[in-house]
Amino acid sequence: MDLGESALKKMQDAKVHMKKVHTKNAFENDSLNQMSQAQFEIWSELLRDRTGMVLPIERKSFLVTSIGLRMREIGVESYDEYHKVLDSGANGELEWKYLIDRLTVHETRFFRHTASLDVVREYMNEKTVDAKTGSLTVQVWSAGCSTGEEAYTLAMTLDQQMSLRSDNCYYGIMATDISLPSIKFARKGIYSARRLQGMDANMRNQYFEQLEDGRYQVTQELRKRVCFTPMNVLVTSDNAIGKVDIVFCQNLLIYFDKGRRYQIVDALAEHLNPGGLLILGSGEILNWGHPAMKKIEYPGTLAYQRVESGNNTDHEN
Ligand SMILES: C[S@@+](CC[C@H](N)C(=O)[O-])C[C@H]1O[C@@H](n2cnc3c(N)ncnc32)[C@H](O)[C@@H]1O
Repeated sequence: MDLGESALKKMQDAKVHMKKVHTKNAFENDSLNQMSQAQFEIWSELLRDRTGMVLPIERKSFLVTSIGLRMREIGVESYDEYHKVLDSGANGELEWKYLIDRLTVHETRFFRHTASLDVVREYMNEKTVDAKTGSLTVQVWSAGCSTGEEAYTLAMTLDQQMSLRSDNCYYGIMATDISLPSIKFARKGIYSARRLQGMDANMRNQYFEQLEDGRYQVTQELRKRVCFTPMNVLVTSDNAIGKVDIVFCQNLLIYFDKGRRYQIVDALAEHLNPGGLLILGSGEILNWGHPAMKKIEYPGTLAYQRVESGNNTDHEN
């Protein structure tokens, strides 16, 4: 069963459940500002099923606000009615994409975690040319890339490092996120001056062009290096990522429970070439171990290196 079918089944099950709840008057006063405990459980379960994200009861007001805003935008007046919209074939699938976008946190910024980028730089310094091709190739995957700042940061970092070498160099970045609007935004590569604040002026001048309205666009040359694709990180086995040299996944795992975190990180590790790096957000997973992965000791980071090509998982916990 793929994610769509599984989610559809959940929604059907949820509808049955909702009907039962209905009879218990849980849907009385079904206004946008009121969400009963039963309704909260249904919606958070749907979200968990669709994205794997866990929404604790403390975040109920966030859920109510986010769903409510979307319902107002499309003129829907009750949770029950909105549920029907989400359950309405292709339109429902599209609506889910917009809702998921509202329910996920997209906070990000350029050069967000300096120490992790230092790990990338060090890797680049040590990387040797391929004996067969005589060139240096680096493929990177930014998983949970939000609106693109992380992926373009990686592109700038690699570009800088490669410019220091006399070898024939090539790099490419795959950047994925479950949020379609974020991916669309990222593809354009247009950011307000505020979002570039704090960036080294030389970097900004080299990799951005100022538009007439004062915003900045990532140069076409850099944009060509980054391929943005909508993708759920929970469904990585049959995706088109293939093998890469660096997987960069930060500030994403925090939204999942422990079991899902292991599941995600195990899957990410399988996409690495031997010698490749998995760079996570510091403290985002505890006691994770994998027989093919060795922890890299670099202050303030959580990074692993693939030491062999097998796909055997064996957690330490
Ligand atoms: C807080 S942002 C982190 C962005 C960036 N990695 C950074 O560290 O600055 C988390 C991103 O994860 C995405 N996300 C959440 N669940 C996801 C899933 N199941 N698959 C892929 N992306 C997901 C969200 O849409 C959001 O853009």
